[in-house]
Amino acid sequence: MSTPSITRLADYRAPEFLIEKTYLSFDLNEAYTDVSSKLSIVSNPQSGKTSDLFLHGEQLELLSLAINDQPLSSADYQISREVLTIYNVPEQFVLHCKTRIYPDKNTALEGLYRSSGMYCTQCEAEGFRKITYYLDRPDVMSEFETVIIADDNAFSVMLSNGNCLSDSVVDGKRIVHWHDPFKKPSYLFALVAGNLDCLEDSFITQSGRNVLLQIYTEAKDSDKCDFAMQSLKKAMRWDEEVYGREYDLDRFMIVAVDDFNMGAMENKGLNIFNTSCVLAHPKSTTDAAFQRVESVVAHEYFHNWSGNRVTCRDWFQLSLKEGLTVYRDEEFSADMNSRAVKRIDGASFMRNVQFVEDAGPMAHPVRPDSYLEISNFYTMTIYEKGAEVVRMLANILGPENYRKGTDLYFERFDGQAVTCDDFVACMEETSGKDLHQFRLWYSQAGTPQLHISDSYDAERQQYHLHVRQHTPETPGQPLKQALHIPLKITLYGEQGAQDLIIEGKNYGEETVLDICREQQTIVFDNITEKPSPSLLREFSAPVKVDYDYQLQQLQQLILLDSDGFCRWDAVQNLMGRVLHEAIEGDSKEPTQDALIQSLKRLLQNFSAMDMGLLACLLDLPSEHYVASRYEKADPAAISQARTHLQHQLALALEPELLACYQALAGEVAGLSAEAMAARSLRNRALGYLMCIDKAIYRGLAEQQFFHAENMTDQFAALKAMVHAEHAHIEAQHALQAFYQQWQNDALVVNMWLQVQATKPWGDVLRDVRALLEHPAFDKRNPNKLRAVIAAFANQNFSQFHQLSGEAYQFLAEQIADIDQRNPQIAARLLTPLTHWHQFIAPYGQLMKAALDSLSQHELSKDVYEVLSKSLVES
Ligand code: BES
Ligand code: ZN
Repeated sequence: MSTPSITRLADYRAPEFLIEKTYLSFDLNEAYTDVSSKLSIVSNPQSGKTSDLFLHGEQLELLSLAINDQPLSSADYQISREVLTIYNVPEQFVLHCKTRIYPDKNTALEGLYRSSGMYCTQCEAEGFRKITYYLDRPDVMSEFETVIIADDNAFSVMLSNGNCLSDSVVDGKRIVHWHDPFKKPSYLFALVAGNLDCLEDSFITQSGRNVLLQIYTEAKDSDKCDFAMQSLKKAMRWDEEVYGREYDLDRFMIVAVDDFNMGAMENKGLNIFNTSCVLAHPKSTTDAAFQRVESVVAHEYFHNWSGNRVTCRDWFQLSLKEGLTVYRDEEFSADMNSRAVKRIDGASFMRNVQFVEDAGPMAHPVRPDSYLEISNFYTMTIYEKGAEVVRMLANILGPENYRKGTDLYFERFDGQAVTCDDFVACMEETSGKDLHQFRLWYSQAGTPQLHISDSYDAERQQYHLHVRQHTPETPGQPLKQALHIPLKITLYGEQGAQDLIIEGKNYGEETVLDICREQQTIVFDNITEKPSPSLLREFSAPVKVDYDYQLQQLQQLILLDSDGFCRWDAVQNLMGRVLHEAIEGDSKEPTQDALIQSLKRLLQNFSAMDMGLLACLLDLPSEHYVASRYEKADPAAISQARTHLQHQLALALEPELLACYQALAGEVAGLSAEAMAARSLRNRALGYLMCIDKAIYRGLAEQQFFHAENMTDQFAALKAMVHAEHAHIEAQHALQAFYQQWQNDALVVNMWLQVQATKPWGDVLRDVRALLEHPAFDKRNPNKLRAVIAAFANQNFSQFHQLSGEAYQFLAEQIADIDQRNPQIAARLLTPLTHWHQFIAPYGQLMKAALDSLSQHELSKDVYEVLSKSLVES
């Protein structure tokens, strides 16, 4: 392919034309769809005068073009692969354009496409240009009217954004007319037509308006919408109570589709969801999946304000809506469930995935400077780090000032397309705080490291904390500046948390230190003994902390810290040390003993603890996280050390694990926080016990599998059997039974595929190849690709990193094939190979060889961008 062009933030210009009204009509035929658009266009008073109009458009068949009802001749315009240029247009006019598109042939799932027979759209970020010629950029906001025409009786529902104005039949054609009164950018446009069932409910807003709530699915899934509906109502209430945000239309619709590149999409008044993020039923859905549904429903709903009413000026500002909305959905979930567990999950995700991205060739700031393909920038950095940046702002400002800041933001910019800086400016204005240095979080990539050391002066009763910050170099950003890092701390002494007295001021037991310089020392007075510092409480900033804890300090934090994240972090630290010593061939008894003793004490007291938290404390650090601690990692050594530690822990804690497992048998059913916590602890215990080769534990797992009342327990037992090397017979048996039972439920079948693709032993690559041929697999469906190929490459560390490099080649071949149909998914699948420089020889070289072989193919822009960035020698 010719080298694609780079889009740069620095080149941003206001649009030359605006589209005041957009009138669309879709004629849905079997073989093609004709789209007619009437656009009321005016030149933008804010920008310089120009007379040529450039419209985006891709893969469109142009049928006709007219300005103010005058047909244009071929001399009046020019069409290239991505742009329609119309010469010499007036200052204000109506452009009438007819195009033909082929939704049935659309395998990229961007624009208008078909999923299980139904028509649906995905326009973010730049899919609308595959529907019709348009100014497909978020700072062009327009009022939309949409007419959908199809054979009468072809579809039971024909939906678009906003309110339905009319629904009639004329000459055998059904014509449905929609109007969205709120101006929006084209990426929020949606259309759905299909034969769907609908679950209805209603919600009374804080100002007393009645909103009709509808969830549309295929008939076979109509019994799986209750939970999403309840979640939606909770989210609507929460946004009123916590942010003062009320819903604005009379109707809110969700449609579930099987084929979807992402999780869900916030189209105005008509959210479109991947079935995996909306359908849920106690028999067939795990607790983790229930929580995912709750948070995705909330996330897309929250976008109605943070994204739709106030949107992004350009795609470099993506985190303005995504980071803010992720922060909002995380806080919602924390309020609905266990806050500690939610925070640990968030922190662990940052470490395992975002920190890895930040250390690799695709590292970029929360507000990137440039891109080739915007679809590649829906990243962990934009989303998760972006959410952490908003969280830091909320913590620096405090709840009242933060709320004043968001109120001002929503009020001032309602109906506008704005920037990350506009958001920060509101925070600055309402709080009076200087956020000048803080803004660097948006422009500087890389994970800051805090190197912390301390000293205690017994005579003066002073404790000194020395903090040095350093952000490693990232591609294109060799030099880094010091950031404003909020470091939340507590100091624990023998008697518990100490009062923190700094420069004569008493801050109580917990405070946030503003770390702003490259090096600084904080002096605490009246400290009567050398304390154990509890650092980065609640994961107060997305940074790495290194502080050389003594074993006994870690044990103290594990047992006594009042912050769940810090307890978890202390266990992770201890586990990390044991693994490191094993990898270096230098295992030390005291470290392992300290770990075992701590976990034993926790387990002996499990009934007095937050069981969900305890379940997290039992988790080993992921292989990815361990690998990221090394300059060059040896994947085999890491997997081996980790498996060994798991086995050692199981043996050392066997009686406690068994007691815990048995005590929690027949625990409360249902989806209460306590019930979910008990299940997660019990299934963690089962996972460990199944590392021990004993018939009794295989019996427990089988028993649980065949008698489970819910999917959480059934699937946990299945996974424990399939992933235990010595339970081969039981596992085969259970896998068959599971498929037999669930073969007609696509989402459960995906779990069945995934549990096999992530099995840590045996010839899994051969199994994965076989799964690709299984009737349950479908290479066009993104969920299936994720369940098999992405799961194998991202969640099966030991099997993916084979000495032969065969798995790397396999992935490259799959990507080349998938790229022909779905570039977005293909580019995402490439991520694991991009980290080749992290691994020792021959792994790193073999990964790079797989990338090299991929570069021999004809590639999409999406894959080309990731590939070329990851092949740059550093
Ligand atoms: N706006 C996105 C969906 C999207 C992203 C569409 C990129 C097209 C291209 C949506 O709001 C979103 O962020 N969805 C997430 C789930 C969410 C809970 C973080 C997703 O789809 O993974
Ligand atoms: Zn989003």
